[in-house]
Amino acid sequence: MGDGAAPLFPFPEGWYFVASQRSLAKGMLLERQWLGRHIVAWSDDDGRVCVAESVCPHMGSALGPTVGGRVRDGCLVCPFHGFTYDIVGNCVATPYAPPPKSLGLNVYDTRVIQGLVFAWWSAAGRPPQWQLPEEPPAGNDWCDLEIRTVRFPGHVQEIAENSVDLAHLRYVHGYGNVQPIGSTTVDGSHLLARFEFIRRGPIAGFVGSVYRVSAAAHVHGLGYSFVDIQEHSIGMEARLWVLATPVDGTLVDLSLASQIREIRRPKRLIVGLGFLPPRFRTWVMNRLVISAQMQDVQQDVVIWQRRQYRPHPRLSRSDGDIGRYRRYCRQFYPDDRVSEGG
Ligand code: FES
Ligand SMILES: [Fe+2]
Repeated sequence: MGDGAAPLFPFPEGWYFVASQRSLAKGMLLERQWLGRHIVAWSDDDGRVCVAESVCPHMGSALGPTVGGRVRDGCLVCPFHGFTYDIVGNCVATPYAPPPKSLGLNVYDTRVIQGLVFAWWSAAGRPPQWQLPEEPPAGNDWCDLEIRTVRFPGHVQEIAENSVDLAHLRYVHGYGNVQPIGSTTVDGSHLLARFEFIRRGPIAGFVGSVYRVSAAAHVHGLGYSFVDIQEHSIGMEARLWVLATPVDGTLVDLSLASQIREIRRPKRLIVGLGFLPPRFRTWVMNRLVISAQMQDVQQDVVIWQRRQYRPHPRLSRSDGDIGRYRRYCRQFYPDDRVSEGG
């Protein structure tokens, strides 16, 4: 839109967040709108996950719990005639007769990283063209993930673009001394942007604090960004997943998941938290970190939800790597349903 071009195709190819594994614990059946489809997801007793289109291949019933679908013994039971599907989507039983041969749900390829469940989406019906990265090492000095989700009108490409839009860090979020570390690199589906900045308090009420941060944003398609964060004044390591998922062609669900490493010897006292046992302090700090990130997101949402896509942005020299990012994005529109950018 904006300068007369078609809007961005809303469902670029890639891996998109579905749910946390925790929310699919025993017997839970999740239904949601995802990339313009209705899907269901569940897991069996061994923790294997199935993400499937919410359409029964027998006679087309929806399968979610709101129409009566349920999970029994790790299998999904259709509410209409009771056909039963196993964790890979095959029909394994019906109440009255042997299951019809080769009857199965339309299932999506899935991947689980740190308890976060992702599924592959391709409007063109292509199998996964690339994989998400290896799971980061998860020693027990890393706390459990905190996850928050916000829904607003927007586009996943514009959300991930903020990783390379360093100028906005100053103007929207008020960060100081924002500097790139090296230049943005692209290797196939992986884009890496590194930068540093100073963030002044208050973070969750700690007025007057100064945080010196370096961050490495690993973008793997438009639904999965992983940010490795080092905070130098306290000596805190944090991980942030930024997971944008198209809902219906207009709305996007943006989920943040954060995790921090236990700080045994803080370099300086964290006001009000110094007396807590390290494990509890880590948990509290993680909640503060994700609250601060959500505040940033709310500032971004104000811009995102009213933004018009400019396929040919009028970039200035200080806009850095936006052009490179736009060229990187083209691979996620294999049908060329997007106008040229960058
Ligand atoms: S429509 Fe699902 S069992 Fe008949
Ligand atoms: Fe931002």
